[in-house]
Amino acid sequence: MNDSHYDFNHLDPEIEAQVETLLARMTLEEKVGQMNQVSPHWGGGELEDAVRRGEVGSVLNVWSVERINQLQRVAVEKSRLGIPLIVGTDVIHGYRTIFPIPLAEASTWDPDLLERAARAAADEAAATGTDWIFAPMVDVARDPRWGRIAEGAGEDPYLGSVLARARVRGFQSQGLAGGKKIVACPKHYVAYGAAEGGKDYNTVDISERTLRDIYLPPFKAALDEGAGSIMSSFNEIAGVPASCNAFILRQILREEFEWHGVVLSDYDAIGELIQHGVAADLKEAARKAILAGEDIDMMGHAFPKHLVELVREGQVPEALIDAAVRRILRLKFMLGIFEHPYTAEELASQVLLKPEYRDLALEVAQKSIVLLKNAPLEDGGAPALPLQSNARIALVGPLADDRAELLGCWACAGRAEDVETVLEGFRAVLGAGADLTYVKGCALEGDEDLDIEGAVAAAEAADAAVVVLGESAMMSGEAHSRAYLGLPGHQRALLEAVVAACALEGKPVVVILMSGRPLVLTWMKEHVPAILQAWHGGIRAGRAVADVVFGAVTPSGKLVASFPRTEGQIPVYYAHKSTGRPVDERGVIQFNREHKSQYLDESTLPLYGFGYGLSYTTFEYTDLAVQTPEVSMDGTLVVSATVTNTGERCGDEIVQLYIQDLVGEVTRPVRELKGFQRIALQPRERQRVTFEVPVANLGFHGLEMAYGVEVGNFKVWIAPHAYAGLEGRFTVVGSDES
Ligand code: NOJ
Repeated sequence: MNDSHYDFNHLDPEIEAQVETLLARMTLEEKVGQMNQVSPHWGGGELEDAVRRGEVGSVLNVWSVERINQLQRVAVEKSRLGIPLIVGTDVIHGYRTIFPIPLAEASTWDPDLLERAARAAADEAAATGTDWIFAPMVDVARDPRWGRIAEGAGEDPYLGSVLARARVRGFQSQGLAGGKKIVACPKHYVAYGAAEGGKDYNTVDISERTLRDIYLPPFKAALDEGAGSIMSSFNEIAGVPASCNAFILRQILREEFEWHGVVLSDYDAIGELIQHGVAADLKEAARKAILAGEDIDMMGHAFPKHLVELVREGQVPEALIDAAVRRILRLKFMLGIFEHPYTAEELASQVLLKPEYRDLALEVAQKSIVLLKNAPLEDGGAPALPLQSNARIALVGPLADDRAELLGCWACAGRAEDVETVLEGFRAVLGAGADLTYVKGCALEGDEDLDIEGAVAAAEAADAAVVVLGESAMMSGEAHSRAYLGLPGHQRALLEAVVAACALEGKPVVVILMSGRPLVLTWMKEHVPAILQAWHGGIRAGRAVADVVFGAVTPSGKLVASFPRTEGQIPVYYAHKSTGRPVDERGVIQFNREHKSQYLDESTLPLYGFGYGLSYTTFEYTDLAVQTPEVSMDGTLVVSATVTNTGERCGDEIVQLYIQDLVGEVTRPVRELKGFQRIALQPRERQRVTFEVPVANLGFHGLEMAYGVEVGNFKVWIAPHAYAGLEGRFTVVGSDES
């Protein structure tokens, strides 16, 4: 066990003995019961009876501690063996204290902060009876049409791995409310984010190399950090749905990773093997899933209905059931649920929404905001942001005084009444005497509340207009993919009208964009002087936005997913391959035309790329030094540069380290993130930033699909984002040459 968090991958001989003793007493029916996870609405009020009969091993998303205790009492006091239930909950970005959506949290590039946020979420979840958190969602996502991009850490496997570890540490922290332990559940295993066309649940057909180099690393990182469970995904991978995919569930998890944790299916995903067309009926679905390596059936009804029969018919060896049940019981023992099955009902009121958790939510929201644009209104003038607090402000837009939408998707036990709106944030920062006018202007979607004239009039009467636009919470998250990534409804018309009115009088317009994904902002970038990407920022979003708009806080977030110029570019991501005809080289001329990998009608670059984000101050990168121009395979690459705050304000900069492996036995991305540091600098202050990267981390899966590093030349950059930076070179040599 680690000092700060529990590692559920270390087997404890005492627990192993307890598991064996209990397993030996169980009937086949009771064993299968442990492999059944149900929602509290299951069985039309007969849940208690099923628990009493030992037919249920876990429940999910039960929203009241009283109800959890009630069910637990039946399991512990009324079932034959008294095995407690394990209670799982979707705690995606906070339990009651709702933090910004995970995509926003990741934009802080601050693993320590996210660990503390995950710990706070786990503390609240523990106080309300949860044992098992269905997070972190660690799916690499390179398609912003996919609504679930909101739930993850964006497009990069390295950043995703670092943040996955941080979140697992936070969820599995020691010292949670009531002395409870919580187990994390990285999901959705695997490659769920590679859905064709960005359509949720859609087909995934990627190479094994892409699977291993891009989609697996964040899962491996989460498991290495001690995560005791994993949730398999809905999608197929090259023809085999994850829920019956022995390659990913047995070969990779058990044989290659040697991992002992619990595999949980996604909701009804075992049952859906029928719709996938790989099982003729539920019985075949159950057989395929258990043979492939599923341990628990979440609401698929396949295991509870058919496993006993399959074992009795000799179609499924009982040893497989025993192995799964061993893992489940081990987890229950490790979590201490046998000794402490109940949760004190007064705990919740002491823990939920604690002032320090509200403060933490504010810090995360502040650091997650990304300044995309901040232009002066006239040449040589001051940038539009921050606004003066004595300015007359017109606050406009459908999200300016909204609470519920700011919670974002998967808001768990979050409540709209807990949310501070942007209007409230402005009032709090500007004080009672502020000259602040609010006009909604239009609804998020549809024709209601349409008042573009009112918004224009308010902007005309003010010194600056702040327009709060974006998506509703329900436009992202599960089953909420979008084909068009512009502003919904009349919002673009509202913005155009306000921009036109302000442009005439030389007034600044600031857009605050709240969304669950990167949107297409091409028009906005051209016409609006200042854009702050504020995501769905959770309960303190309004205050965080106000702090940034009026300069109490200098924005420091950076993008973790590319913003496309148009939907037609998708997928667009920084770590693409070079191709044989790269866009930035002279193409082959044939038929009088240059032939290269590009569009005839659009740039290949994103509008705003990975790692990008501005500040109210400026940073200069100088004096790159590669301390290890030759480094051995088992050595450590050391690179440094000086970063200077050249502006007038203090600010945080996220300094990034990228490499490119120039020649490999298989093709390599044009850049790969291998390190980052968030540093704070006072005006004129400079800091030497040094990165030390084990060469072992620079590898990939080669021709034979083995992971390794190749000798040869590399480029390296220390950079403010993926499309800039100081460039150096180094060579990896064989161990005996160095
Ligand atoms: C389906 C989702 O894919 C998964 O993320 C979630 O944990 C389960 N439903 C349970 O709500």
